[in-house]
Amino acid sequence: MKSLERPPHAAADWTIPQDWAAYTAEEHATWDRLFERQSKMLQGRASAAFAGAIDVLRLDQPGIPDFEVLNQKLGKATGWSVVTVPGLVPDAVFFEHLANKRFVAGRFIRRPDQLDYLQEPDIFHDVFGHVPLLADPAFADYMQAYGEGGLRAESLHAIDKLARLYWYTVEFGLVREDGALRIYGAGIASSYGESVFALDDASPNRLGFDLMRVMRTRYRIDDYQQTYFVIDSFEDLRRQTVETDFAPLYEALARQGDLDPAAVLSTDRVFNRGAQTRPRRVEA
Ligand code: PHE
Ligand code: CO
Repeated sequence: MKSLERPPHAAADWTIPQDWAAYTAEEHATWDRLFERQSKMLQGRASAAFAGAIDVLRLDQPGIPDFEVLNQKLGKATGWSVVTVPGLVPDAVFFEHLANKRFVAGRFIRRPDQLDYLQEPDIFHDVFGHVPLLADPAFADYMQAYGEGGLRAESLHAIDKLARLYWYTVEFGLVREDGALRIYGAGIASSYGESVFALDDASPNRLGFDLMRVMRTRYRIDDYQQTYFVIDSFEDLRRQTVETDFAPLYEALARQGDLDPAAVLSTDRVFNRGAQTRPRRVEA
């Protein structure tokens, strides 16, 4: 794992001021365009909790949210807040913030020519994608417990396994509501292309969530997912994770092989067996 060095202007917990006044008019306009487009796209696609909480992001003024104002609303809902960091932070720092109900966000926003595709998470992904569900009590509990679980996983040398759970839920999760699949993962919710692909395309697998199965499954970071996992409800996810001791699971996982991101097992609950027809990018 590469070790990160804390930039001199960041505090001991790696936070920096958001410096909201420094955003340009063009940057605010980029936020507004993305927000408009994506909140329309998610109508009938996002989970009820996500759709209901998008309003926490509608502040008195348009443009990139001022975290001071946003945090007042979010704090009232669940006690969570958003803090700014310079970029990637070490795992332990990330977990420590989550365990204390702080979500870390970048301050930069993508350029106008990058509306559809971006390698690194920007403030639109971090805030539009993640903050709505932090206003949902069951999901907020899950995130806080995940932070505590992360600190524990570090000492059990199982971060890579636990990271898959985050990936396939917090970032790329689907939930079944009234018999239909809905988006709740931030990586999908903040992406124009993937919010169609994840729900409607014939290419990816859509499989029932199973905790051990998910923690065995590798993931891709360079393209849309080949498999999405579907939870029954946030409460079910909370119960399966917060109320489970992961130490014996990690021990069992150390003895089991990893699974390919496109694998389908005979034991999987299959909502869609993916055709896997999306052309894969050739690795350099
Ligand atoms: N209960 C898990 C453990 O014993 C921690 C955890 C909670 C992990 C919530 C993910 C989500 O380590
Ligand atoms: Co994210």
